[in-house]
Amino acid sequence: AKVVVLRGGHSMERDVSFVTGKRVERALERLGHEVHPLDIEETTTERLIALAPDAAFICLHGPGGEDGTVQALLETLAIPYTGSGPLSSIRCMDKDYAKRALRAAGVETPPFRTFLRRAMNEMGAAAALDLAAASLGYPLAVKPAREGSSFGLSRVEGSDGLLEAVYEAFGYDAKIILERWTEGPEVSVPMLESVGGEPEVLGLVEIRPREGEYDFQAKYTPGATDFAIPAEVPDSVAARLRETALTTYRTLGCSGFARIDTIVEEGVPKVLDVKTIPGFTETSTFPLAAEAAGMSFEELVEKILSVALK
Ligand code: DAL
Repeated sequence: AKVVVLRGGHSMERDVSFVTGKRVERALERLGHEVHPLDIEETTTERLIALAPDAAFICLHGPGGEDGTVQALLETLAIPYTGSGPLSSIRCMDKDYAKRALRAAGVETPPFRTFLRRAMNEMGAAAALDLAAASLGYPLAVKPAREGSSFGLSRVEGSDGLLEAVYEAFGYDAKIILERWTEGPEVSVPMLESVGGEPEVLGLVEIRPREGEYDFQAKYTPGATDFAIPAEVPDSVAARLRETALTTYRTLGCSGFARIDTIVEEGVPKVLDVKTIPGFTETSTFPLAAEAAGMSFEELVEKILSVALK
């Protein structure tokens, strides 16, 4: 097939997107497809119309690519594309929307509060933040609502560090969340659909950074993080993880593939985040889970493409 690979973009994760994109391009070439790499810029729409591809393989991470904007453009141009549609992409990119939808569906996600940058100029804003933080309890995670790869994320131990973390997160997004810090094994659950099939759990990946948190450095430095595939959790927890991932995928209306990131707290999976375009780098959990399931990277790419083309 004639396939456009969209990569780059304008988000903080531009460089990660190039790594995912290059790997996907090479796999598509090895599979015998006609591959056209395309960066997101002013002429993207014209280039897409001129190329008239059979499908677009979207390798964009973060706002402006993973958040429904490019998906809506492709819908408008009637070009089939990989992964989730605009609405699901918007919902999953925004942790505030995603967590509200999950909570309403009875899926466990750590307690949180949302704050807007413009509200920070209002009287009593600092007191409202303090109150929210105290009611959630320390330690807290402070995060931009719409970012990936841990950009702008801080762990805050007490009220002393709160404002600094809040302003750090507002540096990345006009909307942030304060979320109760969750302790326990971190398990990432890649989900994959087949043509005409149901979404399936590709594997349970337990993430064990050698030092500290699973931050940008631990995510992308080879050898900085160990993985246990399958996760070393009791069978009952593995079953709950599978069930939680499936309900999450359906609740948020994902298509094609997605990765559900959880922390298992006292045996209960708590959903932190859903990625509709998870990284496909050498250190990313999705392709590692495929490999552990006996699926080559090419097979994974072909499967995702075939669902888009169906
Ligand atoms: N946002 C990055 C690409 C990931 O979660 O894999």
